[in-house]
Amino acid sequence: MRKKIVAGNWKMNLDYNEGLALFSEIINMVKDEATGTQEAVICSPFIHIHSLVQLSKGYSKIAVGAQNAHQEEKGAYTGEISAKMIKSTGAAYVILGHSERRQYFGETNALLAKKTDTALKNDLRPIFCIGETLQEREANTHFDVIKTQLVDGIFHLDAEAFAKLVIAYEPVWAIGTGVTATSAQAQEIHEFIRKEIAAKYSQEVADATTILYGGSCNPTNAAELFAQPDIDGGLIGGASLKSRDFTDIVKTFN
Ligand code: G3P
Repeated sequence: MRKKIVAGNWKMNLDYNEGLALFSEIINMVKDEATGTQEAVICSPFIHIHSLVQLSKGYSKIAVGAQNAHQEEKGAYTGEISAKMIKSTGAAYVILGHSERRQYFGETNALLAKKTDTALKNDLRPIFCIGETLQEREANTHFDVIKTQLVDGIFHLDAEAFAKLVIAYEPVWAIGTGVTATSAQAQEIHEFIRKEIAAKYSQEVADATTILYGGSCNPTNAAELFAQPDIDGGLIGGASLKSRDFTDIVKTFN
């Protein structure tokens, strides 16, 4: 049975002390809620990661991740953070290809393919984000856009490497807008993604791939979204900054 994940993406929020305080609250509230094949993940700014990993020790269902990593192993890239550095803190995950990285930092599918390789080489599990803009949906090109993101970003991997990925479908028009994709819209895309994985790899690989939904997911809409057969959890922005909301979303699986 594939893993169910509720991952928080704190984005560029919370100073060091605020982050530690929130994570401690989340651990206390989530520790008895994430059970079985479930995992709760917090992807924090780099400055928090090492301390959060220390706080999470002993809680097997709570993991920590980064929100980005550089494509090169190391070198003269002032201000950047490598996958190896992230791994050395004990983090398990890294978000790659978030639409904010694509939009504000010009990250292309080709660059993200490289970042994925480097993250995997350093034993980090990428949470690879894909999703269409409003214009692309209105132009009815959303399936093509998603397919291109899959093919150019991650379909170069062999099946063994691909099995380490988590995919997150985040329609750009739903991120931070309060407008959520309907459960039918999200399920339609998740099913499409799983079919593409089955066609490229195998039904077995497709059935084992965790595919998360992201975009204005909150305690009120999570249950209906997560009840869809191809939605295996969420990548949560705003609601992951409140311990009660994040915990209520994790509890949705119980
Ligand atoms: O990565 C999570 C995300 O982009 C969704 O953000 O604030 O709409 O939940 P939000």
